[in-house]
Amino acid sequence: MGVDNLQLEPSVTPWSVDGSIDYDKLIKKFGTHKITDALLKKLKSIIGEIHPLLQVDFFFSHRDFDWILDRYIQGEKFYLYTGRGPSGMSHLGHLMPWLFTKHLQDKFDAPLLFQMTDDEKFLYGQDNSMEKIAKYTQENILDVIAIGFRPDRTKIIIDTKHIRYLYSMAIEIAKRITFSTAKAVFGFKNSTNIGMIGFPAIQAVPCFLPSLIEKKPTPVLIPAAIDQDPYWRITRDIAEKMGYYKPAQIHSKFLPSLESSGKMSSSKPESALLTTDSSEVIENKISLAFTGGQPTVSLQRKLGGNPHACPVFSYLRYLFDSPRNSTERAINCRSGNLLCGECKHDLSSNSVIFISEFQKQREKAKDKVSEFIYEGYSTETIG
Ligand code: TYM
Repeated sequence: MGVDNLQLEPSVTPWSVDGSIDYDKLIKKFGTHKITDALLKKLKSIIGEIHPLLQVDFFFSHRDFDWILDRYIQGEKFYLYTGRGPSGMSHLGHLMPWLFTKHLQDKFDAPLLFQMTDDEKFLYGQDNSMEKIAKYTQENILDVIAIGFRPDRTKIIIDTKHIRYLYSMAIEIAKRITFSTAKAVFGFKNSTNIGMIGFPAIQAVPCFLPSLIEKKPTPVLIPAAIDQDPYWRITRDIAEKMGYYKPAQIHSKFLPSLESSGKMSSSKPESALLTTDSSEVIENKISLAFTGGQPTVSLQRKLGGNPHACPVFSYLRYLFDSPRNSTERAINCRSGNLLCGECKHDLSSNSVIFISEFQKQREKAKDKVSEFIYEGYSTETIG
């Protein structure tokens, strides 16, 4: 087969995302549900608004989000759970689920468990030393705090530091999941190290910790991009057998790589805008970004561009444009009225402002770390 005929099947796992993703197909493949207008209406009836990331379909899929809302209406509060695998500095893609989680925390007054899977990232990258991962853990914690989560309602769990609070639950979970299930769900091979094979039990633990903290089965909602879904599939399978509720999820799409298809990735710094990038670096990365435009200005004017294949358009749509402005931008792009340089300029100026503001919060976060670190569930509840 010639290289031209090679059709790479898009792949989405917790550790890599390749190819251009058809999110509707992913819903079918993963067995999740599309977020419907009826569901958004129910949400609006409770909190009075629909977050822009739902309006533009960035959060597009769920499991049991409707159930979470029903329980909430009946007076049963839920916990939020999300996390980060500290393998590098954070990029704007990571911030998306966290910004949305903050919105949910504010609107539902929900406690949040935030897990830092330093163990996962040590085990996954053959070249990752624990020293390097510990440095990224500290750096990423600053990003989490800079989002503005409430210290009285948010606790950060660092796996290697807090393992004593996780281990007994982890072995209960691990005992109920066979290697053949883990292999089918995560694609583990004979060459996969055995640490990775056991790790999913650790990421499952915070789905059930709220039930221990509250001393009764407690609903949990996980906002994250859809790459994390395999973890929740295996966790949901065993939850009820262990006497807990199945954790609910709300899934986002990916902020794409600036270099074309695939997701923004901190292991390829040129593909991503990092929260620590300087204004010059941001401007440079955006000036080199791939777009959905034509090779020349005259062709762009004549043929128009393709906003849906354009990372610059996606960043503007999901982060900076209002839903209405974004629709206008798409129309102007397709008709050839808008040039890539103009969109890049808009993205650059917005990103520079956003990231420099974020960096100020990141600086302030340095004094707040201890307020956010988890202290165990036996002696206290959150909030
Ligand atoms: P990690 O560090 O790969 O990613 C952190 C969060 O960011 C999401 N994400 C993205 N979202 C939008 N666009 C992107 N380009 C993009 N890249 C990553 C991820 O889905 C995730 O929500 N194993 C996890 C850490 C973890 C976790 C959790 C995540 C532990 N418990 C519970 C979510 C929920 C990890 O390595 O995430």
